[in-house]
Amino acid sequence: MSGNGYSSIPESGEGSTHHDPLIIKDLSRAKKFELYVRRHFYHILALATIAIILITLAVYSVLPDSSIFPSEEYPHTIKSGVSEFTMDEGRAKCDAIKTRPRNKNLPNKKRANPRAEPKQIPILIKNAVVWDGQGEVLNNVDIYIKNGVISKVEKDIQLNDSENVKVIDAAGHVVGPGLVDMHSHMGVDSWPEFDGTQDTNEMTQPLTPFVRTIDAFNPSDNAIRIVASGGVTTVLVLPGSGNIVGGEAFSFKLRPVETLSNEDMLVQAHIDEEETKWRWMKMACGENPKRVYGNQRKMPSTRLGEAYLLRSELSKAQELKREQDDWCEASQHSHSRFDSAFPQDLSLESLVSLLRGEVLLNIHCYETHDIEAMVRHSLEFNFTISAFHHALDAYRVPAILRRAHNNITVATFADHWGYKKEAFQGIPEAPKILYEAGIPVALKSDHPVLNSQHLIFEAAKTTHYGLPPQEAFKAVTSTPANAIGLGHRIGSLRVGYDADLVIWDREPLELGATPLQVFVDGVPLFDETVIEPTVEKKASSNVAIKNVPKKLEGAKSFILKNAGYSFLGKKPTEGPIQVVVEDGAIVCSAADCSSSFASIQSTVPEFDLQGGYVLPGLVAVGSHLGLSVIEAESTTGDGVVAASSSHEPKSIVEAIDGLKFGGRKLEEAYKGGILTTITAPMSDNVVIGVSAAFRTSAESVLQEGALISPATALHVQIGDSVKSSQFPTVSSQISFLRQIFSENLKLDNRYGQAARGEIPLIVSVNNKDEIATLIRLKESTFPDARLAILGGIEAYLLAAQLAKANIAVILNPGLCTPANFDSIHCLTGAPLTNGTAAHVLNYHGVKLGVAVADDGLARNLAWDSVWFAATSPSQDMEISEFDAIKFVTTNLQEIFGLKTENDVTQTSEEKEEFVVWSGSPLDVQSRILFIHTKNSGIHYPV
Ligand SMILES: *[C@@H]1O[C@H](CO)[C@@H](O)[C@H](O)[C@H]1NC(C)=O
Ligand SMILES: *[C@@H]1O[C@H](CO)[C@@H](O)[C@H](O)[C@H]1NC(C)=O
Ligand SMILES: *[C@@H]1O[C@H](CO)[C@@H](O)[C@H](O)[C@H]1NC(C)=O
Ligand SMILES: *[C@@H]1O[C@H](CO)[C@@H](O)[C@H](O)[C@H]1NC(C)=O
Repeated sequence: MSGNGYSSIPESGEGSTHHDPLIIKDLSRAKKFELYVRRHFYHILALATIAIILITLAVYSVLPDSSIFPSEEYPHTIKSGVSEFTMDEGRAKCDAIKTRPRNKNLPNKKRANPRAEPKQIPILIKNAVVWDGQGEVLNNVDIYIKNGVISKVEKDIQLNDSENVKVIDAAGHVVGPGLVDMHSHMGVDSWPEFDGTQDTNEMTQPLTPFVRTIDAFNPSDNAIRIVASGGVTTVLVLPGSGNIVGGEAFSFKLRPVETLSNEDMLVQAHIDEEETKWRWMKMACGENPKRVYGNQRKMPSTRLGEAYLLRSELSKAQELKREQDDWCEASQHSHSRFDSAFPQDLSLESLVSLLRGEVLLNIHCYETHDIEAMVRHSLEFNFTISAFHHALDAYRVPAILRRAHNNITVATFADHWGYKKEAFQGIPEAPKILYEAGIPVALKSDHPVLNSQHLIFEAAKTTHYGLPPQEAFKAVTSTPANAIGLGHRIGSLRVGYDADLVIWDREPLELGATPLQVFVDGVPLFDETVIEPTVEKKASSNVAIKNVPKKLEGAKSFILKNAGYSFLGKKPTEGPIQVVVEDGAIVCSAADCSSSFASIQSTVPEFDLQGGYVLPGLVAVGSHLGLSVIEAESTTGDGVVAASSSHEPKSIVEAIDGLKFGGRKLEEAYKGGILTTITAPMSDNVVIGVSAAFRTSAESVLQEGALISPATALHVQIGDSVKSSQFPTVSSQISFLRQIFSENLKLDNRYGQAARGEIPLIVSVNNKDEIATLIRLKESTFPDARLAILGGIEAYLLAAQLAKANIAVILNPGLCTPANFDSIHCLTGAPLTNGTAAHVLNYHGVKLGVAVADDGLARNLAWDSVWFAATSPSQDMEISEFDAIKFVTTNLQEIFGLKTENDVTQTSEEKEEFVVWSGSPLDVQSRILFIHTKNSGIHYPV
């Protein structure tokens, strides 16, 4: 796309190297010399002068002193101590320490934005619904931005004729402040990720308070524009959490600058002397540092070691601070010169600054006792903790947080959990509980751990779990802005604030909310779009249903009335409809079922769904559910198959042999409406193994109906992530596949079955060329295989060929990032791209599925899929809500050969198993009311 704020920036490295070594090569030697002298005349002159001075000094220094300077004239007061200059320098430092502002900066309606772009004309945004980021909503107001500042927010702003102003009609859309992500590694952990650009963690010693992200921040990171396209305008770029003290952080605005100077991108660029210029620091506790150093048999290998090392470093900083204070005190009362200069140590400088109250400290900690340890250290050494990050257990210890002298912000994930022990207790209600306890809550991405582009969706999800909407919006705007000491300038849409704004296509906390335009310092970042007036929001049924009667628990015969939609058939049935279930099976699902329920009506319970939705159970594909509980704890999992170039079909592992039922991961998936899980072994090998399909809620492999299909599909994987000593190249992986399938084509083993299409062949791959090679391989070697691609980030580039070859694609994840080199063509969505891979593939008729990319987030599968229905780029490329539900239900069943029929008019398993939602899954407020299965009847999963 052209015409956006980025197009004028040269690619880094180009444009500066075209002076003349090539011309000189063609000239004679004498000519060259002459040219050289002419060009460098002033350099040569300067060098000659310096040389003369040096020679003179050298000569004088070998002569006896008196012969040049009569001793009485030589100003040598080096009786003792440092020079007057050194004393003055030290006194200046003492003054600076004393006078440096350390106050909370206050908003000021008259303030100027020193980052303003002089060429930018003023902008008037008309007819906005303002969400101001502080909890206020203003209807139908205009916003006038000038010189990089919001200068008016009021009704009917009249322009003066002479002024050149750009007018944008927001047409009833929500306009809010730009989002603030207070935990990002953007620019130090750039996209695509390369070994050569990994600058997140200086993991060569556990305490590195002296390293700074500004020294590595790459203003050309591809993520900057993508993240800004999600409405994020400011990020705090922290070092990683491998070290106990990770280093100094810096906060940047995501507006590209022509200079390509990361200093010019700083929020604090050119601010006044009177403003407090906060510094930021990152620390970490718990698992990460002890894992990193413990694995090297170095301290810290335990939390004990972490605490000691931190306290030891802080006590050094404390001592240095005391020496400095003593020096300053003494120099104030004396005019003589001291024996030593103002005491300094670069390695302790930032920690001393922390102890002086000049640093806003951000600490990565999860568990209750980790949080407590850090609060204890802060009281021991008298420093302030600005925010605990991640802190999934903070909601359990508000009393410990209150031991601190300040209000500590908890900068957390909305619902990301479970990947390691310290993150295993996390619950998605935590933000709400913290809010109710009066603790400021911010939501952040930890980019690229989560894609910061979708920070607003983090806020949306918390509203599903009870955080009030405006509090959730504050959690990505003013709360993080306050926590990083910039709450007077950013994070609010109010007069006097920086003109960092987002015009949203719908209410920001709705599923799929996407910016139509983003402004930073009053500069629009993206192509101009035609802003259509907002449409009146359909009243949601979610408010209506408060309590599901518990008397239905276990019921196998019942009547549901007034369902808004049923998605159980081949087509969606629009309500109001009735559903009659008798003895665990649907006997009627229609506008009028009176004929079926006449006989049983008096004896069975009845429930008015008030517009609720009846959906099939979802299918989880692509996860390790059932084979792993805590990813980072190998004892909780089946283990990982090693790479092997064995052709032996007997060595193929089958997931069924390793399944473990129960546990929180499966329970949470079930709560999200996933009734069927298809899991393949965990593997570093090209041949992954055979997947099993099982009921998510089953208690044991022996339970009746627990297994839907013990050997569902053969899974293989290719690409960079599968390179190993056995398969050092992608080509060796392909060649291996060619061999095993051609050798076994006619044999009765898993390879043969997959090659002949008796079981599906699922290939994990993302790159367009690898997918193309795979299509070629299928045509030449196993034309009958029922091939599906899992991953498929770049598959949209071959959409027509995939449709023609009848190859399905299961996107994993549904929304991609260009994080890896083999998937740099990822379509990240509006406003940067015309739809996403799902839209393009669906448009071309490719059978589509959406996978579970993160075991802990399996419960979000319905959202992940209906996201595409919420974000169709055009009518042509439309994905309906029903299509999207098929991506995670019937399409997957068809791809894996579980069921081909899902027709209500026939007796089939789907009819016995369904999930009742309070409303459309497109509405994040919708929740699952109950799940019905043949064996258990009605069940409340929560
Ligand atoms: C128009 O001019 C008047 C008088 O100078 C001033 O008060 C007002 O703020 C101006 N309006 C805008 C939109 O700048
Ligand atoms: C603690 O530090 C603050 C500055 O952050 C300072 O004002 C205060 O005097 C210190 N208290 C003690 C007991 O040293
Ligand atoms: C902490 O927050 C509360 C409630 O907002 C406020 O009243 C109090 O002054 C704050 N305390 C400090 C030390 O900022
Ligand atoms: C997006 O693609 C669709 C389908 O090809 C097309 O109709 C539409 O105009 C495109 N939109 C943009 C903004 O390119």
